[in-house]
Amino acid sequence: MNTSPSQTVVIFAWLLCGIMFNTGLCSFTIRCKQQDMHALLNFKQGVKDPSGLLSSWSTELDCCEWRGVNCNNITSRVTDLSLPCSTTLPSYLDREDKSHCLTGSIHLSLLLMELEFLDSLNLRNNDFFAIQFDYMHNHNCHNLSATTPHHCVNSSTLRHLDLSLNTKLVLNSLQWLPSISSLEYLNLRYIDLSKETNWLQLVTMLPSLSYLNMRSCQLEDLSLSTQYANFTALKVLRLSANEFNSELPKWLFNLSSNIYSLDLSSSSLIGHLPKALLNLRELEDLVLEDNNFDGPIPDWLGEFEHLQVLIIGVNMFSGFIPTNLGNISTLTNLDVASNPLTGVVSERNLAKLSKLKVLYIYSYSALIFDFDSHWIPPFQLEELVIGFANPNLPTWLYTQKSIESLTISGSSFEVQDKFWNYVSRMSELELEGNSIYGNISNVLLNSTFIDLSSNGLKGCLPRLSANVAIAALSNNSLTGDLSPLLCDHKMLNGKNNLVFLDISQNQLSGGLTSCWKNWKSLVAIHLGSNNLEGKIPPSMGLLPNLTSLHLHENNLHGEIPSSLQNCRSLLVFNVRNNHFSGNIPNWISHNVMALQLSNNLSGTIPPQMFRLTGLSSLNLSHNKLAGKIPNEIGNMKNLESLDFSTNQLEGEIPESLSSLSFLGSLNLSFNNLTGKIPSGTQLQGFTALSYMGNRDLCGPPLTELCFQDDKHKDTKLVDEDGHRSEFWPWFYIGIESGFVTGFLGVCCGIFLSRRLRHAYFKIVSDLRDRLYLMIVININPFRKDAEQYWHFSLFKRTN
Ligand SMILES: *[C@@H]1O[C@H](CO)[C@@H](O)[C@H](O)[C@H]1NC(C)=O
Ligand SMILES: *[C@@H]1O[C@H](CO)[C@@H](O)[C@H](O)[C@H]1NC(C)=O
Ligand SMILES: *[C@@H]1O[C@H](CO)[C@@H](O)[C@H](O)[C@H]1NC(C)=O
Ligand SMILES: *[C@@H]1O[C@H](CO)[C@@H](O)[C@H](O)[C@H]1NC(C)=O
Ligand SMILES: *[C@@H]1O[C@H](CO)[C@@H](O)[C@H](O)[C@H]1NC(C)=O
Ligand SMILES: *[C@@H]1O[C@H](CO)[C@@H](O)[C@H](O)[C@H]1NC(C)=O
Repeated sequence: MNTSPSQTVVIFAWLLCGIMFNTGLCSFTIRCKQQDMHALLNFKQGVKDPSGLLSSWSTELDCCEWRGVNCNNITSRVTDLSLPCSTTLPSYLDREDKSHCLTGSIHLSLLLMELEFLDSLNLRNNDFFAIQFDYMHNHNCHNLSATTPHHCVNSSTLRHLDLSLNTKLVLNSLQWLPSISSLEYLNLRYIDLSKETNWLQLVTMLPSLSYLNMRSCQLEDLSLSTQYANFTALKVLRLSANEFNSELPKWLFNLSSNIYSLDLSSSSLIGHLPKALLNLRELEDLVLEDNNFDGPIPDWLGEFEHLQVLIIGVNMFSGFIPTNLGNISTLTNLDVASNPLTGVVSERNLAKLSKLKVLYIYSYSALIFDFDSHWIPPFQLEELVIGFANPNLPTWLYTQKSIESLTISGSSFEVQDKFWNYVSRMSELELEGNSIYGNISNVLLNSTFIDLSSNGLKGCLPRLSANVAIAALSNNSLTGDLSPLLCDHKMLNGKNNLVFLDISQNQLSGGLTSCWKNWKSLVAIHLGSNNLEGKIPPSMGLLPNLTSLHLHENNLHGEIPSSLQNCRSLLVFNVRNNHFSGNIPNWISHNVMALQLSNNLSGTIPPQMFRLTGLSSLNLSHNKLAGKIPNEIGNMKNLESLDFSTNQLEGEIPESLSSLSFLGSLNLSFNNLTGKIPSGTQLQGFTALSYMGNRDLCGPPLTELCFQDDKHKDTKLVDEDGHRSEFWPWFYIGIESGFVTGFLGVCCGIFLSRRLRHAYFKIVSDLRDRLYLMIVININPFRKDAEQYWHFSLFKRTN
C-alpha cells in the first residue's frame, strides 16, 4: 500500500506516542528547551557540588523543574537561575563553614550567551573561586555577529546579577561588565576587586543600573576621569568597607536625583562634608559612619526633606550638634555617636523628630545634657545609645515606653530601684564600661541581654529571671557567694534561658554550689579571678551545652571531676592558677588545638601533654623546663609550630619529631640538647637558627660534625607522675573544631530574633576573642583572624 509522506509522518507520530504513552513519557509535556538544558549542563560541568545541590539537574527531569531554575510560563525559556548557598552565620565571619556550597568556576559568558532569556542570576554566598568571561563572546560582537552569531553574548536580558559573598573570588578585571548592558541590580559584595582599578568607569557604563553593592571589595580608587558619572538610573549605592583614603568625589554630587540610599561607611574617607551633597535631594538613607570626616556637623543636613536614616557616628566631627537636625521630621534613625563633639544637647536638638525610633548620641569628650525635666519627647524610641557628663539620667528617658535596647556609655551615676524597674522591660541592656555605682543585692534582672561589666557595682549577686540569656557582670566589686544568683529556685520554675554567665573579676567567695543542674542551657561560664574555693562540683557535668568554662585564678582544689566529660561541647577549659591535683583526665580530647603556657615553668614536660594530638601550635619557650623531649611528641601529628627555645632541655632530639609532616616552624635553640640532629629528614630543612645555643648538638644544618660512635645514650627517664601537680597551675586549653557551629546549635533561638543578634555576636566575640587573645596569644597565624574579627564587629550595626 502506498502512503503519502504526510501520512507517514502522522502514522509515525502516532506510533511514537503510543510507545511513549506506554512508558509513561506522554503523561506530561516537556517544557524545557534543549538549548537551555545544554547551557545549564555546561554550567554544572564547571561546578564542584560537594553536597549534591544540583542532583536534580539530570536529563530525566524537565530542566524547568531543576533546583534553582525558573522558566517563563509562556515561552518556557529559562529566566531565573537562583542557587544561593545558605550558611548558618553570615559568611563575613571568617571560618564560616561553606563546605556544602557550590565551588569551582563560573563560565559566565557562555552561560549568558546560551541562556538567551536569563533575567536573573543569583549565586550568592557560594564558594566559587573563578569567573570566566571569554572575550570572543562579546568583544567586537557586532563585527563577528554576521559570521559567527553564536559567539556573541546577547545579554540584553540579564537584569539581576548577584555574585556577592563568594569570598574566595578575585576578579582581576570587570571589562566584561558593560557587555551586560541591561543590568539593573549588581551585587559583588565581599569579592576582591583590588586588581580592577578601572571599576568605576566600567560600572558607570551600565545605563540602567539602579542598585550597586560593592561593599568590602578592597577598592581603593573613587576617582573618575570624567566629572560626570553616567549612573543615570542609580537609586542605591553601597561602597562601604573599602579603603578609599580620599574626600567624597565630585561625581557623587552630580548623580541623578533618583538616588535615595547611599552607604559609604567604613571606607577611610576624609575631609569636611561638602554642601554639594544636598544635590542628592531624594536621599532617604545617608550612612557615612566609621570614616575620618572632620569639621563641624553641617547644619544644612537639616535641609534634606526625605532623610530617614542619618548615620555619621564614629568620625572626627567636632563642635556642637546643630539644632537644625531637629528639623528633619522624617528621621527614624539618627546616629552622631562616637565623635569628639562638645557642648550642650537639649530638647531643641530633637524637637521635631516625631518619627525617631533609633537614637545614638554620645561623645568621648562628654556632652552635657540640658533637657527640661518636664520635656516630653515627640517620639517613642525603640533603641537608644547615650552618654553624658551629668551625674543623673535625663528624666525624659522614663517617658520612653517602647525602648527594647538601651546602651549607656561613658557616664557616671548611681543606679537606683526606679532605674532597675524601668529597664526590666527591655530585652537588651548594655551598661558596660561606665562608672555606674550602687548596690544591686536586691535587684532582679529581667532583660534577655544584660551587660553590666566594668562598673562600680557593689553588694551580693543579683537574681536573674528566667528571661535572661546573657548576663555579664564582670569587673565590678560584687561580694558574697554564687547562691543568690544560681540557687534561687523560686525564681525559675525549673525553666530558664541563661546561655552566657560572666561574673569574673569580682570578689566572690565560697564554693561553686551544687545548683548548676538548674541551668542546663548554659554555654559559657566565666568565674575567673575571684576568691572561689572548694572543688569543681560534679553537677557541672550536667551542662550538656557547656562550651567555655573559665575558673582560673581562684582557690579551687581537688581533682577535675570525671563528670565533666559529659560536657561534650566543651571547647575552652581554663583552670590555670588554682590548686588542682591529679592527672590530666583522659577525656580531654584530641581536639585541643593550642596550648598557652605561662613562663617560669620548671620540671619536665609531662608526657600527658602529648595526648593533645590535635594541637597545631605549642609554645613552651622561655621557661626552665628540664629533662628530655619525650618521644611522644611524635603523636602530635598536626603540629605546625613548635617552640621549646630557651629552656634546659637535655638529651637527644627524638627521631619521632621528624615524623611531624606539617611542622613549618621549629625552635629548639638555647637548651642543653645533645647528639645528632636526626638526619635525612625534614629537620634538616630548618636553619641553624632553630638549633643554635645547644652545647653538644651536631650534624646538619649545624656546622659541628658528629663522630660516628659518639651517640649519647641518655637513659634518664622522665618521671611520669612526678610533676603532674605542676601541670595544672598553667593548664589552659582551647578546642577550636566545630566551634561556631556547635555553639549555634544552642543559640539559634537568639540568633533568629533580629533584635538579639547583637547579643549573639557578643557571645561569639567573647568566646572567640578569648580563644584568640588568651590561648593563642603567641601564635601568629591566628592574629589575622582576630583582627578580621574586630573589623567585623565594627560594622555589625549597619548590617
Ligand atoms: C538580543 O536579544 C534581544 C531579546 O531577545 C533581541 O531583541 C535582540 O535583537 C538580540 N540582539 C542581538 C544582537 O542578537
Ligand atoms: C553617558 O551616557 C550617554 C547617553 O547614554 C552617552 O552618550 C555618553 O557617552 C555617556 N558618557 C560616558 C562618560 O560614559
Ligand atoms: C552634572 O554636571 C554637569 C557638568 O557639571 C552638568 O551639565 C549636569 O547637568 C550635571 N548632571 C546632574 C544630573 O546633576
Ligand atoms: C530649622 O532649625 C533651625 C534651628 O532650630 C531654625 O532656625 C530653622 O527655622 C528651621 N528651619 C526649618 C525649615 O524648619
Ligand atoms: C629561636 O629562639 C631564639 C631565642 O629566642 C632566637 O634567637 C632564634 O632566632 C629563634 N629561631 C628561630 C628560627 O625563630
Ligand atoms: C613563643 O613565645 C615567645 C614569648 O613567650 C615568643 O617570643 C615566641 O616568638 C613564640 N614562638 C613562636 C613560634 O610563636
